[in-house]
Amino acid sequence: MNDNRIMAKKPHHVIADLVQRLTPPVLLLLLAVLLVNLALYQHLSKVSVPSGKAKVGYDVCPHGYFRLGTLKNCLPWLSCEAIRREVHKLKRVGEGAVKKVFLSEWKENKVALSQLTTPELQEDFLHGLRMLKSLQGKQVVKLLGFCEEDFLILTEYHPFGSLKNLNQILNFPKYKDSNTWHRRFLLAIDYVSIIHYLHNSPLGTFVMCDSSDLDKVLSQYLLTSDFHVVVNDLDALPLVNRSAGELVKCGHQELQVAMKMKVSSQSCQYLRSHNPVSFSHQ
Ligand SMILES: Nc1ncnc2c1ncn2[C@@H]1O[C@H](COP(=O)(O)OP(=O)(O)O)[C@@H](O)[C@H]1O
Ligand SMILES: [Mg+2]
Repeated sequence: MNDNRIMAKKPHHVIADLVQRLTPPVLLLLLAVLLVNLALYQHLSKVSVPSGKAKVGYDVCPHGYFRLGTLKNCLPWLSCEAIRREVHKLKRVGEGAVKKVFLSEWKENKVALSQLTTPELQEDFLHGLRMLKSLQGKQVVKLLGFCEEDFLILTEYHPFGSLKNLNQILNFPKYKDSNTWHRRFLLAIDYVSIIHYLHNSPLGTFVMCDSSDLDKVLSQYLLTSDFHVVVNDLDALPLVNRSAGELVKCGHQELQVAMKMKVSSQSCQYLRSHNPVSFSHQ
């Protein structure tokens, strides 16, 4: 009888005992996990802020050097001779007012060769080249070489092309995982941080003038294969002369005069057709 009572109480005691014995270690374990998470989170947030601004993912070489694809070492920017001898054009992949751009091959690497379209725009071309040289960094297309004599610029080739292709690329089933609001916001942040970089560069404040309409804006930036943005066309990038208290003027002087003339001749035509009397004496 006594034995039976003991037997009936036993399971209850065992469970209570077990709970009593296990509760502190489980709580301790949970607390430890929580603390580790907290410490990790704090550490990562401290690390990720500066590293975002620094050179994460950008294979840094000294100024005047580049590294490409599987190359281990940094090589000096290619000279006229090297470009003439070793770079072979494959097909045209883009064209703007200043440059024709060709997918080309250099030692089994795909590269982009930009060529001046017309001698009248050589100043813009050379300014763009100077800017590319001075502003190299993770937000600017990688310069591989140049030849001022032949008006050639060699840069890293980005198969997705300019940001104008973004929607088309993201609509490919292959890239559906990247077709998210999150990714699109990251791309917008990339764009804003490029503009921020240009406005606050070590060389001063530059203004991106090639921004008159959306298509124009998008065509100056390239979409990288890992869905980031780099600026490519720095031809229209005047420097703000703060000490002289001057602002920048976007656009060619001649172009502005031509535009004004066009506008005034259009407004004359408009006024003539709407008020023939006032113009009949002119
Ligand atoms: N490195 C590159 N990789 C892939 N496409 C490029 C590259 N550079 C330029 N392109 C293409 O060529 C177009 C024209 O180049 P861009 O430098 O803007 O010429 P422009 O100075 O005449 O406006 C770009 O919009 C882009 O489509
Ligand atoms: Mg352009």
